[in-house]
Amino acid sequence: MTGLMLPGEDGALYPRDRSWHPPGLTPGYKSSTFRAPKHALLSLGATASELSGPTFGHSLINPLDNDLIRNFSQDGSEAIGQRLIIYGQVLDENARAVPNTLVEFWQANAGGRYRHKREAYLAPLDPNFGGCGRAITDANGFYSFRTIKPGAYPWPNGGNDWRPAHIHFSVFGHAFAQRLITQMYFEGDPMIWQCPIVGSVPDKAGIEQLIARLDRHNTTPMDALAYRFDIVLRGRRSTMFENKLEGN
Ligand SMILES: [Fe+2]
Repeated sequence: MTGLMLPGEDGALYPRDRSWHPPGLTPGYKSSTFRAPKHALLSLGATASELSGPTFGHSLINPLDNDLIRNFSQDGSEAIGQRLIIYGQVLDENARAVPNTLVEFWQANAGGRYRHKREAYLAPLDPNFGGCGRAITDANGFYSFRTIKPGAYPWPNGGNDWRPAHIHFSVFGHAFAQRLITQMYFEGDPMIWQCPIVGSVPDKAGIEQLIARLDRHNTTPMDALAYRFDIVLRGRRSTMFENKLEGN
């Protein structure tokens, strides 16, 4: 665990830009009608513990945590599916890299099936694929992991809705108040534009930011394709001057 802050990391966070994020109520995404807030939101300032609380350190990570092809292997076999490298950089709104932050990811298997007791899709489980992992960003804010491409799957929303292939992400940032949970999609997938959940994002440019780009330069030849997915967290209001906060 580490609670160390780099210069410029203290100070209030920018408030969330709600015109950029999906509204709570999007009837095309049916379950949002049950859980969307029915009253005006209250704005609460970040507390000292939110801004300075402990974050995660490299010591918490096991060597296979960022390898979904092997991290659930039962018999030494690797997961079935198209092999991928997913990588990217975690930045804040001021384009500063976010190092040493926990990135978690979870996904369906190659057939579109989750390993979850309430999963009802008939696609089979892969005995050697668990579907979740984690990584810590390096000094320049980069994370990476190996996995297989998840399949599309149907879900009970409008009778015949299908989720495009996607990977779920959670990123903590430097403070718990920065936590972001989002989903990553794959460049060129026509199903992205038919999905009611994706459609809840009001701005097409916002959707484009959720699409990982095929990156032929970082493939592993004869092994895995690579996709790049950068993530931007909220930044802090403090202005940097050399390596000190202004006024210090
Ligand atoms: Fe999902």
